[in-house]
Amino acid sequence: MEIKSAEFVISNTDIQKCPVGNMPEYAFIGRSNVGKSSLINMLTARKGLAMTSATPGKTMLINHFIINEDWYLVDLPGYGYARRGVKGQEQIRTIIEDYILEREQMTNLFLLIDSRLEAQKIDLEFMEWLGENGIPFSIVFTKTDKLKGGKIRHNINMYLRKLKEQWEELPPHFITSSETRLGRDEILNYIETINESLKHK
Ligand code: GTP
Ligand code: MG
Repeated sequence: MEIKSAEFVISNTDIQKCPVGNMPEYAFIGRSNVGKSSLINMLTARKGLAMTSATPGKTMLINHFIINEDWYLVDLPGYGYARRGVKGQEQIRTIIEDYILEREQMTNLFLLIDSRLEAQKIDLEFMEWLGENGIPFSIVFTKTDKLKGGKIRHNINMYLRKLKEQWEELPPHFITSSETRLGRDEILNYIETINESLKHK
């Protein structure tokens, strides 16, 4: 799919204030610093569209970007950033959970996982919560440019094996790098296929 236009629309903490209408949207979630905002910039090929930072906790709000005047990408705050404090983390958690549970236009959630790390409890628990609530999601392995070739496949296989202990059927997964643009076509095609299927409903 070609990205003809990508524009920032609105930021807020309140799902009541998210854009109205029934255009489908795709949201990005995961631990702070995993690369959500960078992935949005990579997919849209617009460098400064979503704000990124080397320090975790950059994205604090629900950010809508309209793509091709037809669908939205949504950048969400990350979870699990200890330095926000217990209260701060709870606030962010509430924003994330309300958005995921209540936003009807949210068509698919991309859950980002750092490809360099072993499966983290916080992510596995989050996936469990998604499953319990029937939220459609896919997994995006990020930052693969930081790994040597064989190690990428190895880590991802280990991760998927771990998931099989918990899940009967695995969600779709994408292998990406915002540096090399690995996985860009796959994710955009996936979104396009879903958009098309929604139009023919
Ligand atoms: P929060 O908004 O704080 O939750 O973080 P985020 O998940 O949006 O992460 P962000 O995109 O801001 O990226 C965090 C850091 O990781 C930045 O320094 C990025 O440059 C870096 N980064 C993100 N994706 C990649 C990648 O694919 N490869 C490499 N090498 N670095 C990446
Ligand atoms: Mg961010």
